[in-house]
Amino acid sequence: MKIEGKEYRTIWFDEQNQTVKIIDQTKLPHKFIIKDLKTVKDAINAIKVMEVRGAPLIGGTAAYGIVLAIMEKNDLNFIKKSSEDLIQSRPTAINLKWAVDRMMEKLSGVNNNELLKVALDEAKAICEEDVKFCENIGLNGLKIIEEIYKKKKDKVNILTHCNAGWLATINWGTATSPIYHAHKKGIPVHVWVDETRPRNQGANLTSYELNEEKIPNTIIADNTGGILMQRGEVDMCIVGTDRTLSTGDVANKIGTYLKALAAKDNNVPFYVALPSSTIDWKIDDFKDIPIEERNTEELSHVEGLDENNEIKKVRIYPKKSKAMNLAFDVTPAKYVTGLITEKGICEASKEGLKKLFK
Ligand code: MRU
Repeated sequence: MKIEGKEYRTIWFDEQNQTVKIIDQTKLPHKFIIKDLKTVKDAINAIKVMEVRGAPLIGGTAAYGIVLAIMEKNDLNFIKKSSEDLIQSRPTAINLKWAVDRMMEKLSGVNNNELLKVALDEAKAICEEDVKFCENIGLNGLKIIEEIYKKKKDKVNILTHCNAGWLATINWGTATSPIYHAHKKGIPVHVWVDETRPRNQGANLTSYELNEEKIPNTIIADNTGGILMQRGEVDMCIVGTDRTLSTGDVANKIGTYLKALAAKDNNVPFYVALPSSTIDWKIDDFKDIPIEERNTEELSHVEGLDENNEIKKVRIYPKKSKAMNLAFDVTPAKYVTGLITEKGICEASKEGLKKLFK
């Protein structure tokens, strides 16, 4: 995707300096800062404090985390311990474990002097695969937008929650990829961007990247989607997911479930876009999905630019008030119109997923 006209990915290996580069997402949209990850601890911290976030990008960062661990200490115990620490860094997105497991499997039985090369190649392969998958998600989801446009013959209004965009993946995004493809094809699209409290990934990241790609979008408070659907101003919803169960239930950013309920009540199609790396084939009961609970400072404080263009954090709640900060919720499959994957679109169900993924 482009930032000020220049093509970027969200993570890449700097061959010259032998470091991993990321875009520090905690500073967006106010400052565009490229940061070096030099150690596995840097990678773990970047995931924890959400300098990188979004399920596929967390997976890509974890893969490079293993590379950094090998560069620090070519020792199997250290690499193993690092892999466990990486998996612990955030609990809900399954891509994290998926990527670390894939890396460790690839490394098993490899000679010490080959470890770094094999790991680097595999981390790059994981990222390349994600780009391809997200591009295919876009081409598959495009068909839905085209259908709506054919019938409506007017601008297609799409609502999205959080950031399942370019910044949440390596490139393209999941939920945004069909939107980018539709825009490239000349279909007029407009995106309702849920602000996504408390961290405002919608307002800070989704709107930012849509602006850079010149896609019309409007930020709305998280509770606005319902009335817009009642007014017929939403043609479809597309969101991402951090973990998709084989049953078709999807865990995604807190508030997704309420949007799905409103969509059902108003007959608005509600699609979830995902690469297969987000599918957890092991859990059947959504209550078993670990739901991340984050620091309540994310609720009680907000960050923004002051008059000197400095990023400042201010408290908005009474100091004495208690708060709770659950980061994800689960949308049961019955509210999902379809899953848009790299292999095609399927029903959100065991049968649907099995048809695409043998
Ligand atoms: O807490 P975040 O910002 O990592 O949450 C991100 C989301 O909820 C995304 O929708 C999800 O990871 C899918 S990203 C393609």
